Amino acid sequence: MLNFSFHLPTQFEFGTGAERKAGEMIARFGGKRALVHYGGGSAVRSGLLARVLESLDAAGIAHVELGGVMPNPRDELVYQGIQMVRDQQLDFILAIGGGSSIDSGKAIAAGALYDGDFWDFFCGKALPETALPLGCILTIAAAGSESSNSCVITQASTQQKRGLNVELNRPRFALMNPELTYTLPAYQTAAGATDIMAHVMERYFSNEPESDVTDRLCEAILCSVVKAAPIAIENPNDYDSHAQLMWASTIAHNNTCGVGRVFDGASHKIEHELSGIYDVAHGAGLAVVFPAWLRWQLTHHEPSKLVQFAVRVWGCDIDLGHPERCAMQGIERYEAFLRSIGMPLTLRELGIENPDIQRIADGTRRNPGTDVCGFFTPMDTAAIVELLQIANG
Ligand code: NZQ
Ligand code: ZN
Repeated sequence: MLNFSFHLPTQFEFGTGAERKAGEMIARFGGKRALVHYGGGSAVRSGLLARVLESLDAAGIAHVELGGVMPNPRDELVYQGIQMVRDQQLDFILAIGGGSSIDSGKAIAAGALYDGDFWDFFCGKALPETALPLGCILTIAAAGSESSNSCVITQASTQQKRGLNVELNRPRFALMNPELTYTLPAYQTAAGATDIMAHVMERYFSNEPESDVTDRLCEAILCSVVKAAPIAIENPNDYDSHAQLMWASTIAHNNTCGVGRVFDGASHKIEHELSGIYDVAHGAGLAVVFPAWLRWQLTHHEPSKLVQFAVRVWGCDIDLGHPERCAMQGIERYEAFLRSIGMPLTLRELGIENPDIQRIADGTRRNPGTDVCGFFTPMDTAAIVELLQIANG
């Protein structure tokens, strides 16, 4: 197990009615004038936005609203938010929604206090030294942005989707009411579950030996998601399954199950190219990329971790004489699960008819200072092309 440093500053308020604490929580973290930032309309239609504004009014928090965040959030709205914060001297960002609204809010929070162009943070030119405080109200169990140190934004003019991972990104609080996820379309619930699993597996598939605690945490989260996701999809108003998914989303990506080991990250980097260029749902993109990554790894990495995954997560029998057969059975059961919740498994099923494989492979970000991506078996451009060919069916 590697040495690590882990500080999680986010205060979680979980359960029915959590969103009504918004005003009180902003005040607790020193906010007086909030930018309320939300998505394309679900928070308005469900009445959530109205309830939240009521809570802010009751706590005496002044507010300005900026809706319209689209999935795979773009830089244009971030610039608009930064301008509003400056013009109206706002001191707190409240994001309502999923990874897209929260990430757009995070970029505004850091960009508003920076003299230069906020994109400098995403293209590696600068790192933020300070940021406005941000709280969030989660409406989809998926990206884990509610307590992660990540923020992912797409530059519309170049279709470059880039991430910024810094501790300043972690929200001050996350209000998490599973009932808010009842209105999600089944496809989004399934894409969210797929993303949660990918966050866990990016950590699980590590070459770090002696990581038993985090290995078993990872396996427990995976098994819980496999159990809860079909129930949540079939019964949109089932509290317990939605609650399991919501907490899984959080611990899958705030590094609770990743400390002491190296995050592989290759599947996410490849998927970010896909969703940057083709604007697909991030979780659905991972349903195509992650199984292909596993199949590629099976032919390039000794199989013991894939066997462990097959046995402990998917209930496969160990085949001592042919461990790779057992590993493949695990991959097939994972794929069958994804299919059963309505996820695509090929680029075509994802809606990408003629993928520009070379462009995706060339654009995929590398491990800093290297020409390879990921750590389990690092992938160069040719390897990423092979993976995408597997994903192309
Ligand atoms: O915009 P609205 O109208 O709210 O609709 C959204 C959107 O269309 C809808 N939705 C959300 N909650 C709903 C709802 N519809 C009905 N009822 C509700 N309760 O769902 C759609 C997807 O929302 P989005 O916020 O895009 O989902 P998600 O949480 O999957 O976020 C995806 C983004 O997060 C990034 C992804 O790359 C992508 O850009 N990620 C962020 C990470 C982070 N910051 O830690 C890590 C992830 O790996 C990921 O890269
Ligand atoms: Zn993700």
